[in-house]
Amino acid sequence: MKNNLFLDAAFSKQTERPPVWMMRQAGRFMPQYWEIKNKYSFLEMCKTPEIAADVTMLPVDLLGIDAAILFSDILVTGEAMGGDLSFTQGVGPKFANPVRTAKDVEALNVDCLSELQYVADAIKVIQQRLNGSIPLIGFAGAPFTVMSYLVEGGSSKDFKLTKLMLHNQPELAHQLLAKIAKVTAEYLNLQIAAGVNAIQVFDSWALALSWNDYQEFSHRYIQEIIANLNRKDIPVISFCKGSSVFASIMAEAKPDVISVDWNADLLNIKNALPAGIAVQGNLDPHILYADKAVIKAQIHKLFERMRGTEGFIFNLGHGIMPDIPFDNVKYAIEVVKEFKY
Ligand code: CP3
Repeated sequence: MKNNLFLDAAFSKQTERPPVWMMRQAGRFMPQYWEIKNKYSFLEMCKTPEIAADVTMLPVDLLGIDAAILFSDILVTGEAMGGDLSFTQGVGPKFANPVRTAKDVEALNVDCLSELQYVADAIKVIQQRLNGSIPLIGFAGAPFTVMSYLVEGGSSKDFKLTKLMLHNQPELAHQLLAKIAKVTAEYLNLQIAAGVNAIQVFDSWALALSWNDYQEFSHRYIQEIIANLNRKDIPVISFCKGSSVFASIMAEAKPDVISVDWNADLLNIKNALPAGIAVQGNLDPHILYADKAVIKAQIHKLFERMRGTEGFIFNLGHGIMPDIPFDNVKYAIEVVKEFKY
């Protein structure tokens, strides 16, 4: 690998500056994304390896980030298991056949890896394009977050039906989560076999859960997934919205990196973790709407706070919003790359 910054930091080695990539770096804030998106549906883009590779490469070529992330979505596991998935502009993801009864859970197919072969094909094309320049991050959704889309049938503000299933039908919820966890571990191993250099698990909506429910319905499945990964030389990043609260539990699943939302002081989180777990984060993505001087000052403030810390990857606390100015994202990455400790 020509640029080892990301992998070194993920394995808690000292780096001359923090490596940078951003969640949702290949997305709608880029005018070049729309040139492709106007010709194909989102799922067509994910399922056509050449197009998935084109989109993956946009931030590599235009922003100069230190790691690429596979262009796909966390909901493709739900689709492979039998979910009737669509993405509509302005509506977001929808499963037309939500999973709400024992019969629905029963019907989900766990022997579905062949449905996800297009992801392995995309990874191979992307690695040819990257040609050893920077690492490629593969990813999947954590079982609780994927479950929430399957049960609600789409995005939700309060996760009412999902939490009702956890509380009124915990056994059914566990059957569903166990099925998703099995597919997710196999799917991530498929990505590793196809050539990704790192893995990130996204538990975007863990923040909705209480301390006890997080342990019972989310953490234990993430732990199971991480324990089942063929992860030799492949760092595993655990992301959740809620990591400011749940970081100590997340650490028990033994990831290499914990990706932290923007509520917490990153150094305090790092210092409370067992040695050898790196942190990733944690700029509030809203800072990227602000003036360039503010962007620079906020990044420098974070870097001064993290000075001397081994195992720090710069990222946002959550993904880039679609209406953040492209120029501001580019500027933030320049600020990081010019920084010297
Ligand atoms: O980070 C990257 O650039 C890689 C690609 C990626 C996408 N989704 C592309 C995408 C990744 C890593 C994801 C993960 C994902 N998908 C998460 C976890 C990360 C997070 O942000 O919390 C979640 C919760 C999803 C589910 C999902 N997919 C939603 C809620 C939406 C709609 C978003 C909205 O605001 O309408 C998507 C669609 C999606 N996934 C798009 C992209 C580029 C937009 C598709 C479009 O062009 O219409």
